[in-house]
Amino acid sequence: MLDFDYCNPTHISFGKNKIAGLNKLVPENARVLVLFGGNSAKKTGTLDEVIMALGERDIIEFGGIEANPTYETLMQAVAVIKEEKIDFLLAVGGGSVIDGTKFVAAAALFEGEPWDILLNWGNNVIQALPFGSVLTLPATGSEMNSGSVITRKDIQSKRSFMSDHVFPKFSILDPTKTFTLPTRQVANGVVDAFVHIIEQYLTYPVNAPVQDRFSEGLLQTLVELGPQALNNPTDYDIRANLMWVATMALNGLIGRGVPHDWATHMIGHELTALYDIDHARTLAIVLPSLLDCQRESKKEKLLQYGERIWNITQGSEEQRIDEVIARTRAFFEEMGIKTRLNDYDLNYTHVEEILTKLEFHGMTALGEHQDIDIERSRHILERSL
Ligand code: NZQ
Ligand code: ZN
Repeated sequence: MLDFDYCNPTHISFGKNKIAGLNKLVPENARVLVLFGGNSAKKTGTLDEVIMALGERDIIEFGGIEANPTYETLMQAVAVIKEEKIDFLLAVGGGSVIDGTKFVAAAALFEGEPWDILLNWGNNVIQALPFGSVLTLPATGSEMNSGSVITRKDIQSKRSFMSDHVFPKFSILDPTKTFTLPTRQVANGVVDAFVHIIEQYLTYPVNAPVQDRFSEGLLQTLVELGPQALNNPTDYDIRANLMWVATMALNGLIGRGVPHDWATHMIGHELTALYDIDHARTLAIVLPSLLDCQRESKKEKLLQYGERIWNITQGSEEQRIDEVIARTRAFFEEMGIKTRLNDYDLNYTHVEEILTKLEFHGMTALGEHQDIDIERSRHILERSL
């Protein structure tokens, strides 16, 4: 096992009617900016519930944070914070609203141009406003991690940053809040969480059976519950387990002491920035062909994953790996997510465009061995056509 430090300071409040507890979780005299996305938080009544729970506190609302939140919109929230002397932020929504809130929390106290936070991966963040979240979409793990992904529309750049200063103080996870999700978003959430686990698990062995078995348990739960979640939108137990899996997939725990990949995410971000494809869908396009191209260096873990998740024990190693990749692709398709660039009307010309962006962003040594250069990315993308 590799050395590590682990500290996760986010307080999780999980269960039905937990929103009422906001009154205790948010400081009594706070001036609160409540941030949310398009229309869903209003339509579902979650926003009203939140406002009610905040009681007598001074509250200002900031709506309109997009899926794949943009720097342009978020800077408007920063202006409101400064004008209104806001001292606590509350995100109500999915990963986009929570990520957006993290950026706003850091940008509001940042000296200089806040886009530099993204250019420096967050290493230059020395403080941030405190914030909490009310999660409405299980997918990203943003509710219990210190990462955030922000898009700049003008230059079609989607970049991420991490900082210990942007862990949420608390996150409320009420599974009933996911009952209103469109099927498409449920599927996205399952696939995103699945790939988060894979990116931390499916690299090379470092004799870390605790992390491996945690990851395998989470993967098995997703394989079992994912399809059920599509057809049973109001089944509390399914949604509760899904919500906790997605949080556990990226709250740092399974990734401590093991190598990470993240190449699928980095290539996927370019696809979203260029063609506005949902985050999870980009992962479903890239991952199967990445596993194929990296089959040699990932061999041992591919075989272990095949045996323990898909029960693949027969055939030569190459045949088993073929089957592992096919089963993974089939799972994404079963969730209703297409896995080929062609399915999204993209062809060889687009591959060149994606590669240019990867190079521009310095994504030229990706993966757990930093061996995915532009040529290897080309292979991966061409294999995804
Ligand atoms: O905007 P509204 O109207 O609220 O609608 C949203 C949005 O259109 C809707 N929605 C959310 N909760 C709902 C609901 N609709 C009905 N009922 C509800 N309860 O769902 C749509 C998608 O929401 P979004 O927040 O964009 O989805 P998700 O949670 O999948 O977040 C995706 C973003 O997270 C980033 C992605 O790159 C992407 O920008 N990621 C963040 C990570 C992190 N912070 O650690 C890691 C991930 O790998 C990921 O990159
Ligand atoms: Zn993701």
